[in-house]
Amino acid sequence: MLSPEDNDLLCRVGAGTPMGDLMRLYWLPALLSEEVPVADGAPVRVRLLGEDLIAFRVTSGRVGLVRNTCPHRGASLFYGRNEEEGLRCVYHGWKFDCSGACVDMPSEPAETAFKDKVRAVTYPCVERGGVVWTYMGSAASPPPLPDIEPNMMPGESQVQKIMRECNWMQALEGDIDTSHFGFLHRTFGRQPSQGTFDYYMEKERTPRYKVVDTEFGTSYGAYRPAEEDTYYWRIAHFLFPFFTMIPTGVLGVQIVVRAWVPLDDEHTMFWSFMAPQTRTLEGAFVGANGQAGGTRPGMVEYAEDTQDWLGRFRLIANAGNDYQIDRESQKTRSFTGIDNGGAFLQDQAVTESMGAIFDRSGEHLGSSDEMVIRTRHRLINAARALRDNREIPPGVEEAALYRQRSGGIILPRDADWLEATREQRKGFVKAKAEAEAVPATGGG
Ligand code: FES
Ligand SMILES: [Fe+2]
Repeated sequence: MLSPEDNDLLCRVGAGTPMGDLMRLYWLPALLSEEVPVADGAPVRVRLLGEDLIAFRVTSGRVGLVRNTCPHRGASLFYGRNEEEGLRCVYHGWKFDCSGACVDMPSEPAETAFKDKVRAVTYPCVERGGVVWTYMGSAASPPPLPDIEPNMMPGESQVQKIMRECNWMQALEGDIDTSHFGFLHRTFGRQPSQGTFDYYMEKERTPRYKVVDTEFGTSYGAYRPAEEDTYYWRIAHFLFPFFTMIPTGVLGVQIVVRAWVPLDDEHTMFWSFMAPQTRTLEGAFVGANGQAGGTRPGMVEYAEDTQDWLGRFRLIANAGNDYQIDRESQKTRSFTGIDNGGAFLQDQAVTESMGAIFDRSGEHLGSSDEMVIRTRHRLINAARALRDNREIPPGVEEAALYRQRSGGIILPRDADWLEATREQRKGFVKAKAEAEAVPATGGG
C-alpha cells in the first residue's frame, strides 16, 4: 500500500518530477537502430519520459534526437528535411545538427549571427548492439553506458520491444512478482517430467521468499522443495532505474535483461535483451509456431505500425478486444484463457487491467509481495534523496554494477542462497557446460 503522494512520486516521470529527474541521470534505450535504418532517411517520432522527440540518422550515420518543436516558432521537426548532417525545419528552413547547433538560418540576414544564439534541445545518442541509447540528463559529460551483458555480445544477442499501455512501475512489478507464475501462466493437462524446474513448481505453488537490498537495487530468491534434501531457488533482480533480470532459465547460463522504459506516465516500452543460449532454455519468446527472432517475437501478434508517438510495437490483442480471451479455453486449457501470446500477453493483460496508473492506496499486500514493496521503497527513497540531498542513485556512475545474472538453481536445503550462488550470479563469464544437462523452465 502506498499513499497517493508516494504513488505519484513512484509513477510520474515528466521533467521536474523526482522520479523523472532520477531517470534522467541514466542512459535510456530510446529506439532500435533499425527504426532509423538509413542515413538521411525519414525522421521518426519518439516519446520518452513524457517528452516528444524526433530521431533522425544524419548523412555520416550518427543518430540525432531533437525536441519535436522547432526553437524558432514551434513547427514539428517530424516534417523536417533530413539533409547533409542535419535536420531542416520546413517552416522557415532553420537547420540543426545532432548537437542542437543551428547550422543554417536562411530566413535571417547572414550578418546578424542570430543563428549562433539559437539552439535546439537535443540529447546525445550512442548505438550499441542494435539499440540507440540516449542520455536526457544535464551533466556536461554523460556517465558510462551500463554494462548490459546481452546488449554487448556482438552479432549474438537479440533485442525485442513491445508496447505496454500502463505506467512503467506497474509493468515492472510483474517481473519481480514470481508468485503469480503458478496461477496466471498455468496451463492444464501438462505433465512436466520429474526432476525439472517445472515439475517442482507444479508440485508447490507457494514458494517462500528471501528479499535483499543490493548495490544495484534489489534481489529475491524464491524457494520451494525440490528433492528431500534440496530446494529449487528462483533468483531475480531489480536494477536501477528500470531494469529487471527474471528467474526463468538456469542461473549462470541464462543471460537476459529486461527494461521497462517510461514513454510517458501511461505508456511503457518493454525491452528484452537476450543471449542466444537463453532463448533455447527459457523459451519465453519462442511462439507455439516456433517462430522466434527479429525484433518482434513470433509468439505475439503485432498491430500495423503507425507514425504516431505511440504507434509502433503495439499488439493486436489488447484491452479493446479483452486480449482475445477464450472462455472455453479458460475451462480446459489455461488458467486465463488468454492464449494467443503466451506468458507475455497474460502479463500484459493483468497489468494493463489495473488502469493506466493504479492507485496503490487500495492494495492488500501479502508476504509474497515483499520484493515489490522493497523495490518501490528503494525507488521512492532514491528519488527523494536525489531531490533533497542531491544524492546520486545506484548504477549511474558504476557501469559494472549491472554485471549480474538471474535464474533457477537447485541448492542443498542448508545452503545460504547468496553465498552458494556468488559465482553463478556474475555476468560476463563463460557459462559452464554442465548447464546443458539442467532442465528448462517456463517464462516468468
Ligand atoms: S518554425 Fe522552424 S524554422 Fe520557423
Ligand atoms: Fe508473468
